[in-house]
Amino acid sequence: MRVVLLGAPGSGKGTQGKAVVEKYRVTDIATGDLLRAEVAAGTPLGLQVKTLMETGELVPDDIVVGMIKEHLAKDDTTNGFLLDGFPRDLPQAETLDAMLKNIGQPLDVVLFFKVDYGEIMKRLLARHRADDTEDTIRHRLEIYEAKTKPLIDYYKNKGLISEVNGIGEIADVSQRIFTILDDIAVARQARN
Ligand code: AP5
Repeated sequence: MRVVLLGAPGSGKGTQGKAVVEKYRVTDIATGDLLRAEVAAGTPLGLQVKTLMETGELVPDDIVVGMIKEHLAKDDTTNGFLLDGFPRDLPQAETLDAMLKNIGQPLDVVLFFKVDYGEIMKRLLARHRADDTEDTIRHRLEIYEAKTKPLIDYYKNKGLISEVNGIGEIADVSQRIFTILDDIAVARQARN
């Protein structure tokens, strides 16, 4: 199962990503988590991206693309992978297409999490991460609108988008996702 999670900050990508990884045993590649680990460890890369992350700016493409390349090459992706937080804009999406074509592992689905911005603000203000202040959340949402949202149409045109209602109990949202992924697995089995 090769999955991309697409959605605004706070829409539940990280939370649901963990549930998908646990159930389907796919490899978790979450760019935000990988970058935060670099910041926490104080690596040169971490120092380079710390302020950008704290202010809600995107980190330069070459850094995140490098991380994705490294993980797709070294991690065990026998059961597939889950990309959380990548791609974030059109250039990243096009780079990903080329990378996956090269390794013969096309995406199965892009799960788009639908959650209204009022709910997102409420969730993120309750969390207290370094980039969860009201101004920074607003800025992250602006960047999402300008750069990431166009990916919905990009993946719709490829027939890969499945919309998930991200509102409700976490377990209920997981169940909606599992239904989509199970249907994909059944359809694939029927084809083989
Ligand atoms: P990243 O870590 O990807 O953050 P984000 O997209 O802003 O998303 P969040 O982690 O805030 O939200 P989420 O959708 O994962 O929701 P979550 O499950 O955590 O990126 C951080 C930064 O890294 C970026 O700003 C950028 O600087 C950099 N970066 C990362 N990738 C990059 C890339 N590809 N290119 C360039 N830069 C990049 O949930 C949020 C909260 O809501 C939690 O407290 C959770 O418990 C709660 N919650 C979840 N589900 C529910 C529910 N159903 N009901 C109630 N509460 C819920």
